[in-house]
Amino acid sequence: MAVEHEPVLLEAVVEYFLPLPPAGLICDATLGGGGHTARFLELCSSCRIVGIDADPRMLRQARTRLADEPRVEFVHGWFDEVLRDRRGFDRILVDLGISMVHLKSGDRGFSMLAEEPLDMRLDPSGDDESAADLIQRYAERELADTIYRYGEERYSRRIAAAIVRERHRGIDTTTELAEIIRRSVPPAYRHGRIHPATRTFQALRIAVNHELDRLERVIPRAATALRPGGRLGIISFHSLEDRIVKHRFREIAGARHSTERVNEPILEEGRFRVVTRKPVTPEESEISRNPASRSAKLRVLERLEEG
Ligand SMILES: C[S@@+](CC[C@H](N)C(=O)[O-])C[C@H]1O[C@@H](n2cnc3c(N)ncnc32)[C@H](O)[C@@H]1O
Repeated sequence: MAVEHEPVLLEAVVEYFLPLPPAGLICDATLGGGGHTARFLELCSSCRIVGIDADPRMLRQARTRLADEPRVEFVHGWFDEVLRDRRGFDRILVDLGISMVHLKSGDRGFSMLAEEPLDMRLDPSGDDESAADLIQRYAERELADTIYRYGEERYSRRIAAAIVRERHRGIDTTTELAEIIRRSVPPAYRHGRIHPATRTFQALRIAVNHELDRLERVIPRAATALRPGGRLGIISFHSLEDRIVKHRFREIAGARHSTERVNEPILEEGRFRVVTRKPVTPEESEISRNPASRSAKLRVLERLEEG
């Protein structure tokens, strides 16, 4: 049976995005399984949607699910790159990370529970190196710093040392890496609430796909791509991402006609306000239906009408 990804914070997104202007232009910058897009199409029969995904396989699945819907333009690419060249959106949604499809039916190494090749690239057709190549190339210090920064892993040094010790024989699968990590950490941590490799896997995925750099870049670009009155919603899944969204939104809202603080020359015009004073989080009912939504946080930025 095909794996389904349940769209996270769907009703909250809709609440902040309504009313969708008739004949409006929406960007679903992380199309994934097309869950949010399907709802936008239901709510606005005259809207057009630009749906972006870096993963060609996800794009194919979304096309099938949405039956090649003519109101959707399917775009293969990284959201920060696509949004550099596009303008005029009434709504933009960025739902970060990977989908259930990546975790459950993948052969790309996103899950440490099944034996899969240690790849982790969202776009295997691009120039990024795989996680297996990355752990061969990095110096021990660089590896430890990556695991610490992107995984917030307190045993990053031990884990990096163990990987470097073992890598001469090749670490090519998720289970091999997970076992090396498991053996390198203290016994109490091995039997903790989460699998001891969880944070290292998150760190490697972020590094392989340059996720935080892309998030930093997409925020001012997406803000610039909004029409006056337009809204940008970003759903993040861990504190590193949410911190970036929170600070960039504040800077943009406070940076009247300023380009220096947001460090992106394209944000030249427009005034903005942060609509969500606190991040919107899922209700208990959503978390019990879909535990993957547990750590989701939605923040919304609005470009003010001119005048
Ligand atoms: C959490 S899923 C989106 C799920 C979707 N909203 C739904 O409800 O079906 C994130 C999707 O965005 C893609 N993605 C992640 N980072 C990206 C980026 N920087 N540029 C383009 N696509 C990206 C992933 O391949 C994945 O399919």
